[in-house]
Amino acid sequence: MKTKELTQKLLEWYQTNGRNLPWRFKGGAHPTPYIVLVSEIMLQQTTVKTVIPYFTKFIQRFPNIQSLAQADIEEVYRYWQGLGYYTRARSLHQTAQTIVNDYHGEFPSDKEKIKKLKGIGQYTLSSFLALSFNQAETVIDGNVKRIICRLHHLTEPLDSLTSKIEKLATRLTSKDHAADYASAIMDLGATICTPKKPHCDKCPWQSACQSKNQTDLEQIPIRKKLSKQERNGSVYIIKNHEGKILIRKRTEKGLLSGLYEFPWTDSGELKNYVAYCRDTHQSISHTFSHFKLNLKIYTLTNNQKRDEEIFAYPDELIKNYPFSTLMKKVWKTVNSIE
Ligand code: ADE
Repeated sequence: MKTKELTQKLLEWYQTNGRNLPWRFKGGAHPTPYIVLVSEIMLQQTTVKTVIPYFTKFIQRFPNIQSLAQADIEEVYRYWQGLGYYTRARSLHQTAQTIVNDYHGEFPSDKEKIKKLKGIGQYTLSSFLALSFNQAETVIDGNVKRIICRLHHLTEPLDSLTSKIEKLATRLTSKDHAADYASAIMDLGATICTPKKPHCDKCPWQSACQSKNQTDLEQIPIRKKLSKQERNGSVYIIKNHEGKILIRKRTEKGLLSGLYEFPWTDSGELKNYVAYCRDTHQSISHTFSHFKLNLKIYTLTNNQKRDEEIFAYPDELIKNYPFSTLMKKVWKTVNSIE
């Protein structure tokens, strides 16, 4: 089958089988680039199923770029709470401000200008331009790589196939219906060409697929396993004489930035506290994208705090301060033993 025919078949399949998602607009580019931007940034490290309720609430509260640009970052974090990777929320907020302040609230369609906005990497650049402006950009994520490798039965390790996949994926991209094509290939990967038990009998590309009925189908693409690094540390629940708990805000840069937390370290123990603390014999583990963190939980009584630290009543903690999923896990574990 010719490439053009494959593209056409996928677009036809999408018209009846594409998912209806709250940020979707079938039949062309989305009329609101803001909706595309919010959803694409949320979907960067989070699954569609998880994103849907967050996206819905977020758009209810911040229905347009102006409302987001004017919002307090703390409130934005609250709406992001539980999605993780909070740098995304800060980047989205900054981008909203840039669009309002530098572009009178209208998104430019120029690639170079979009590229400079915060939170837009290579994938989001392509998906944003295709979905918002119907530009013939090719989206390549894990799903697309799997589809291309299976279609052509590419069995070399994935990291050696980058430019080959890019060429093949670009060739398949629809020039006239880029928005629908981008959504269609995402849906093909999510619902048909799944990692395990793909539904080849329902695939619009089954007659061209070189991996259909092959015994190694589920193994494609071939990736070398990277073992996740582990780090061990400790976290401290510090109560003062009023029963308040010590928390601090993370700096605006890096992992979990801008969120509140209990004092913790990922390298053994915190020297200031180690002599006075009580071992709860409880611990939590949390897996980030590149490593796994194991924290032992300690408690202690102490009235001192630094300027940047806050004592807050236990029932105010989760309600009034945006906490990361990691720290919520700590709090839940501590409360389950008290
Ligand atoms: N993953 C990334 N962007 C997506 C989108 N727009 N729809 C579904 N899944 C996605």
